[in-house]
Amino acid sequence: MAVEWVRLKLDLDAFDDARFEPRLRSCRQTGIEFTTMAALGDTAEHRRALYELNKTCSADIPERGEFYTYDEYLAQRIEIPTYDPRGIVLALDGGAWVGMATTSIQPEGHAFSEMTGLLAGHRGRGVSLAMKLLAIGFARSRGTHVLRTFHHPANAAAIGMNRRLGFVDDDAPRAAAV
Ligand SMILES: CC(C)(COP(=O)(O)OP(=O)(O)OC[C@H]1O[C@@H](n2cnc3c(N)ncnc32)[C@H](O)[C@@H]1OP(=O)(O)O)[C@@H](O)C(=O)NCCC(=O)NCCS
Repeated sequence: MAVEWVRLKLDLDAFDDARFEPRLRSCRQTGIEFTTMAALGDTAEHRRALYELNKTCSADIPERGEFYTYDEYLAQRIEIPTYDPRGIVLALDGGAWVGMATTSIQPEGHAFSEMTGLLAGHRGRGVSLAMKLLAIGFARSRGTHVLRTFHHPANAAAIGMNRRLGFVDDDAPRAAAV
């Protein structure tokens, strides 16, 4: 049976950063650093590291199935017009890549939250909220007003994270919500 995706959207004009800034500060106080692919350098080595992190985190997405090979990942996720290294937010712990929140700007004019993931040992500490706050800053800096995403209905953590940020059900026609 086809999956009934949970489609969500966030009004970026109404989003109140101040509610989540303490989470960003407390993550930094515990030694988590936040950066972007653009700041670190969009190099072959960093693309490979992004792939490995994405692959590890995606293993916990319900019914995700087999992940891309590296060549498929490059072709379908990176070497595409909507890939922007400024929209690849990374969380680092002691220099190791532990989290990612990636955002693209879609031709329809909205931002799309592509993938948010934390290594299992780093979950439950607000790091995803901190990364999403930075991702929202990126989306706004590109002039967008709406951030969209969708999740498998069994992905309670991802749906809970987004609802915590204020995402609501997205009733836009499917074509507009891709
Ligand atoms: C989804 C994911 C990124 C959340 O990361 P996280 O750092 O553990 O989340 P946070 O600690 O920042 O929690 C943020 C909010 O999400 C909600 N949440 C987190 N885990 C939850 C769970 N298991 N069930 C329900 N809600 C949950 C809570 O509301 C929490 O806010 P609170 O701390 O104020 O209560 C993480 O579970 C993950 O990497 N999962 C595997 C990859 C994935 O499924 N990604 C989404 C698909 S793109």
